[in-house]
Amino acid sequence: MAALGAPPAVGSFVPSKVTGTAVAGGEPRGGCGAVRRTAAWALLAVAAGAFASDARDELAAECDECHGEGGRSTDPDTPSIGGFSDFAILDLLESYRSGFRQGRKAKRPDGRETDMAEIASGLSEDELAAVAAHYAARQWQPHKQPFDAPLARRGARVHAVKCGKCHLRGGSVAESDLAITAGQWRTYLAAQFQAFDDGTRRMAPKMRKRYESLSDGDKRAILELYVSAGEF
Ligand code: HEC
Ligand code: HEC
Repeated sequence: MAALGAPPAVGSFVPSKVTGTAVAGGEPRGGCGAVRRTAAWALLAVAAGAFASDARDELAAECDECHGEGGRSTDPDTPSIGGFSDFAILDLLESYRSGFRQGRKAKRPDGRETDMAEIASGLSEDELAAVAAHYAARQWQPHKQPFDAPLARRGARVHAVKCGKCHLRGGSVAESDLAITAGQWRTYLAAQFQAFDDGTRRMAPKMRKRYESLSDGDKRAILELYVSAGEF
């Protein structure tokens, strides 16, 4: 195969749903699931394939220290990521790299403190592509947790109207190209709702409009829907 040359700078082509910036080719992103895979995107996939697999495993082992084996977290404060789409992982890492999302302080198992902004900023383009491909190759496994079924059913109704356009099928599918929320840890999700409410986590403008129209009861119901993973 012909040498591909240096991969393009990530910031120039990783489309961001968050900031609504344009993708390579100048097309603006709509801010939700309909992903247009560009030529640059295909190049990224090739770069991921070319990244030596032992280097990739070594890097993923570092992520797994916090996110659990294969990205399935055993710590309810830390999200599972195994089974998200490659696009979702890149986009989420990009939102930390760009400073759109603050990294919450987290401790590695050896006690060293870091956060996702520091971690994501330390990755090269090849490494970003490689970890994204690594976790996208996993199957999402919802965490089974107790939930209130009637409340989850109410959440499903509200979600379908206000959130389901972007977070498809109750936030349960990788195809949304967003973080999978169905079957994610309750503690982590509740912290995200809290962070959206108190402004410490920013939202895409189109999401904010919908989110701000929710009552506190709606939010509790949607949280319950996510925790139920649709099993109500
Ligand atoms: C020190 C522990 C730690 C390490 C190491 C770590 N993460 Fe994280 N990661 C977290 C925590 C905690 C969060 C949630 C942060 C928050 O609440 O803002 C997170 C969030 C994320 C998210 C966003 C998930 C979502 O649902 O929004 C992605 C993607 C991610 N990490 C990927 C990675 C990758 C890839 C690596 C390895 C290169 C990695 N992380 C290494 C602790 C860690
Ligand atoms: C226009 C598309 C869109 C709509 C509508 C939308 N969201 Fe989002 N949502 C996003 C994007 C984009 C992100 C990722 C932001 C980031 O990277 O920080 C996100 C992230 C989230 C997260 C964090 C997941 C994680 O683990 O990081 C939650 C929870 C969430 N949305 C809930 C909702 C709820 C509840 C609604 C309905 C009121 C909603 N969203 C409507 C696009 C949308």
